[in-house]
Amino acid sequence: MSVASTLFNADKDHSNFVYVIAAIAALNGLLFGFDVGVISGALLYINQSFALSPFLEGVVTSSVLVGAMIGAATGGQLADRFGRRRLTLAGAAVFFIGSFGMAFSPTVEWLIAWRIIEGVAVGVASVVGPLVISETAPPDIRGSLGFLQQLMITIGILMAYLVNYAFAPEFLGVIGWRWMFAFGAIPAAVLGLGVYYIPESPRWLVEHGEIDTARSVLTRIRAKDEVDEEIERISEVSEIEEQGDLSDLLEPWVRPALVVGVGLAVIQQFSGINTIIYYAPTILNNIGFGDIASISGTIGVGVVNVAMTVVAIMLVDRVGRRPLLLVGTGGMTVMLAILGLGFFLPGLSGIVGYVTLGSMLLYVAFYAISLGPVFWLLISEIYPLRIRGTAEGVASVFNWGANFLVGLTFLSLMEQIGESWSFWILGAFCVLAFVFIYLKVPETMGRSLEEIEADLHESTTVSSDTDIDVSDREPEQYSE
Ligand code: BGC
Repeated sequence: MSVASTLFNADKDHSNFVYVIAAIAALNGLLFGFDVGVISGALLYINQSFALSPFLEGVVTSSVLVGAMIGAATGGQLADRFGRRRLTLAGAAVFFIGSFGMAFSPTVEWLIAWRIIEGVAVGVASVVGPLVISETAPPDIRGSLGFLQQLMITIGILMAYLVNYAFAPEFLGVIGWRWMFAFGAIPAAVLGLGVYYIPESPRWLVEHGEIDTARSVLTRIRAKDEVDEEIERISEVSEIEEQGDLSDLLEPWVRPALVVGVGLAVIQQFSGINTIIYYAPTILNNIGFGDIASISGTIGVGVVNVAMTVVAIMLVDRVGRRPLLLVGTGGMTVMLAILGLGFFLPGLSGIVGYVTLGSMLLYVAFYAISLGPVFWLLISEIYPLRIRGTAEGVASVFNWGANFLVGLTFLSLMEQIGESWSFWILGAFCVLAFVFIYLKVPETMGRSLEEIEADLHESTTVSSDTDIDVSDREPEQYSE
């Protein structure tokens, strides 16, 4: 076995090129994570340059999310039409230019405009990365390779925290925030260059009639005897189905997958992860940690997020998606309850402060083995081929929309009802998430994308004929 195959817990040896493609495609996540993480540090200094009102502060922060919704909404369809590779390249170019655009913004209006543009690239990256990985990965390691995207998101966040720390308050006589944004051009350039080394997805090629090219791509990433079989499988699915569009998402047989994708998109955000990712320093300050301790605690959040995502990579194709999601949301619920309690008790200093910090880190750890990576993985697996890009885009738009809502409302919620109740509300939401996952989310471990699609067909045909009790079903089947 090659080192990579052992690391990713493969059933058999795979060509190293499979891993190279996944690693390059996952760099999309690096752009995404960097952008999410950079704003918390940059905001402090943008304020010094432009004297922002709280409202404008909110606009500068969330403008990227508006762009991301646009990018995710169009990215899926563009990926289906122009190919995954071309779109990745376009996204990296926009991100590269946008990084300098933000860094050189002369006024806040320019900054907001550039952040929206940058957001479009982030939205595109959130769709196209998982798509490329899931469509090129062999089934036995599709989960762990898919998690590379989330790993890169978490590394991007951590990288941004460190960049914020390094360039604050100023560097070489230039105020820190301009450097922080400009730094984003580096991962964008790496992704752009990387695209030259990866081929177009064989599934997209077959779907667009380029069978010979698809065959030569598959020859590089599959064993010889698997190539024809896989071409045949993909062709079968794509022959039965014409290239679909948004309206196809509402077809009865696709609906269960739509519910799962959109449900998980909203759950991932409403479980509150970004309240910690964006506001960790503020929260730590509130519990009585000094400035340096708060920054260290924030970097601690970033490190735990990365480390536990690595653990998740090792587990996903061994224990499956559902167990990770259930254990993760269960753990998050308990940690949010303790976090709320920490704020409820009088005097957050001393031991209570540390328990609160501990529960925050564990909350992030439970997220990192579950909702973080599994959401992005599942939305690249559960949809039928002909609308995969489009459908994934829809789930992604809901994710960015929910992200926007939480970011916009959480600080005022804390002001209105206090920290304790705010965290308990998020905890209650995690309970609902647990129930939703238990009842609705299928297990996709070890199944090919075509088998998952067949399951979807089967489950809806069966359930329209008879009324089946959900608890009787095999986990890989959908429930309506
Ligand atoms: C989410 C982001 C979040 C990140 C944290 C991603 O999967 O979509 O909103 O900031 O995880 O690691």
